[in-house]
Amino acid sequence: MAEQRKIIIDTDPGQDDAAAIMLAFGSHEELEVLGITTVAGNVPLSLTSRNARIICELCERTDVKVFAGADRPIARALVTAEHVHGKTGLDGPTLPEPTMPLQTQHAVDFIIETLRREPDGAVTLCTLGPLTNIALAFQKAPDIIPRIRELVMMGGGFFEGGNITPAAEFNIYVDPEAADIVVRSGVPVVMMPLDVTHQLLTRKDRVKRMADIGTAPARAMVEMLEFFERFDIEKYGSDGGPLHDPTTVAYLLKPELFKGRNCNVEIEVKSELTVGMTVVDWWHVTDRKRNATVMRHVDADGFFDLLVERFARI
Ligand code: RIB
Ligand code: CA
Repeated sequence: MAEQRKIIIDTDPGQDDAAAIMLAFGSHEELEVLGITTVAGNVPLSLTSRNARIICELCERTDVKVFAGADRPIARALVTAEHVHGKTGLDGPTLPEPTMPLQTQHAVDFIIETLRREPDGAVTLCTLGPLTNIALAFQKAPDIIPRIRELVMMGGGFFEGGNITPAAEFNIYVDPEAADIVVRSGVPVVMMPLDVTHQLLTRKDRVKRMADIGTAPARAMVEMLEFFERFDIEKYGSDGGPLHDPTTVAYLLKPELFKGRNCNVEIEVKSELTVGMTVVDWWHVTDRKRNATVMRHVDADGFFDLLVERFARI
């Protein structure tokens, strides 16, 4: 067996976050989840920390420790997304309250301590929510940045625009200052923007394949997706909802599913009209530093084949 890739998942679950975590749990040969850190985003921190533990217990992975992080953005009031994810953030299935403990160590300190324990380039960060925890860790301990192999983020949008304002995608919009710190930090960023995730709709045939797996985690995921997708179906008449967060883990498992290019990304933090916008120099019209690999195309069928195959292994 090839050496497992060490990852930390930073998340604001969220049904699509749950799909990403479950994809990682179904890929234990390739991925070692060093820990899950939670952040305020889709719902407040107390709920994202509850939801992360519910997902661990659903997948019988209470060996993975969950650490609570920032309860609000660095410099702004928290904006949440109950309108998409429901009041608990994990609406859909009826799942028991978690009994596994929430770690007492703060998520930012867990990230710093874990990275300091590893050699350079050893750990991959998968970020599924606002980047508050990551930015705070970089501010507190900039020495950890070389320890990071890649930071694979779900966030941003360019040709596809925004989903919380016309210009901004939710994860970046909630904490634009944090995103600005991260993209300027020098950490190798792989960005999965709405340009990719809007190609990954939870069509009925795809959800049916997940239902046919027949296990408790798969059944719960189907109920999560059936709740999560109603927002996009009702609003856009689309054939399902976009499955955002699992793109980060899928990239680690099968990077060939994605196509993009290295370019400069900057974050709008000032303009009230476009705050949170990821300004992507896709056509290289400036000489700004090419600080991110921005993905634009994905093999959607290959992505869902991977999800179904790995969900069945949980
Ligand atoms: O804009 C989509 C992103 O915002 C996803 O990560 C979703 O879970 C929410 O956090
Ligand atoms: Ca998320």
